[in-house]
Amino acid sequence: MAVKELYERYMITSMVAGFEPVEVTSASGCIVRGADGREYLDCFSGISVTNAGHRHPRIIEAAKNQMDKLIHCCTYVYYNPRAAELAEQLARVTPGRLQKSFLANSGAEAVEGALRLARQFTKRKELICLTHSFHGRTVGTLSITGNRGRKKGSGPYLSGVAFAPAPYCYRCPFRLKYPDCDLACAQYLDDVLRYHTAGDVAAFVAEPVMGEGGIIPPPREYFTIATEIVRNDGALFIADEVQSGFGRTGEFFAIEHYAVEPDIMCMAKAIAAGFPLGAFIAREDIAEAFTPGDHLSTFGGNPVSCAAAIANISVMQEEKLPEKALARGEQLMSQLNAFKQECRLIGDVRGKGLMIGVELVKDKATKEPAPEEGKQVRSSYHAGDLCEALGILVRYRKNKGHDALVDRAGL
Ligand SMILES: Cc1ncc(COP(=O)(O)O)c(C=O)c1O
Repeated sequence: MAVKELYERYMITSMVAGFEPVEVTSASGCIVRGADGREYLDCFSGISVTNAGHRHPRIIEAAKNQMDKLIHCCTYVYYNPRAAELAEQLARVTPGRLQKSFLANSGAEAVEGALRLARQFTKRKELICLTHSFHGRTVGTLSITGNRGRKKGSGPYLSGVAFAPAPYCYRCPFRLKYPDCDLACAQYLDDVLRYHTAGDVAAFVAEPVMGEGGIIPPPREYFTIATEIVRNDGALFIADEVQSGFGRTGEFFAIEHYAVEPDIMCMAKAIAAGFPLGAFIAREDIAEAFTPGDHLSTFGGNPVSCAAAIANISVMQEEKLPEKALARGEQLMSQLNAFKQECRLIGDVRGKGLMIGVELVKDKATKEPAPEEGKQVRSSYHAGDLCEALGILVRYRKNKGHDALVDRAGL
């Protein structure tokens, strides 16, 4: 039976609007190969996972060596040397005093664990998070996600969650302009604490650069102001680096752009170059708040994933991948900004490093969103190959085949 048919018959897929028309058979570096024999330039990275490229030889070698020795033992029952080595590496590459890690399997599991730890440490229960945010698809992480589209169908969610406005300058919730706004979105956290909570806030949770909410990098001073406000109230700052971490923004972690030290930080996606792994890391005093029975994970810290993650970190450092993301990102952003002048659909270009968003609007003055046009660009993108798609945005006018895409998108 064809793969597509097997999917239709035996896999739960009704929650996705559609599939990319590519049956992926192999991948290496930045190239993905389809069953039709075509090669694609992968601008998607499996949702920000393969930051070091597909199947980097050193990462594959580390994983294979580990598979020949041990695949599973349960990291929280027996000593797993790879988990210990990875935790040491994470303490080394993460900012400030972050030191002790819990190893999990996914981003959502990392965020859930971080929330539990913050509650245990502070002996408080409430949480403050941001509109437009995304933190995963478990009930806990959806409760702190500020996006109806992601939450629909599963409520009601946890109580004790308050939302602050996203630092989304292009569509400022206060209709102000940076820097004259005096960072009203960050200052508003004071109001949220006073008027939207019961004074029992354990943590403020935020993505240093928002991913699923539309690639939103907060202004430079945002986290300094926001964390000062919440810390004065006794709450912790949890940075969700699941999407923005591991080099994508031009620093190892996006929070480094803001020179603010999180109390707890969540990681996953690119941590092990495609092997399933998640983690949260905390200051030592905070980490000690868990008492026996408070937390565990059967597969968390899988030895093969940990071996891959250790190799991934050394590849990132030796090959200077964050620095390269910064340089390539600046190049791409400058071309996208030039293209924005010519293209009436592009309202905003924003991001850090290679975490870049292009926001499409029907009208640049009213900023009316252009979801249909966005779909058209995406479906043109499906019909062509990913190299052509890159050409749409970066090499406007030079790319053959591009005109048709432009016409269909009504640019
Ligand atoms: C910022 C952020 N946090 C958490 C998650 C959830 O990660 P996972 O899908 O590995 O559970 C995501 C996934 O996109 C994310 O972008």
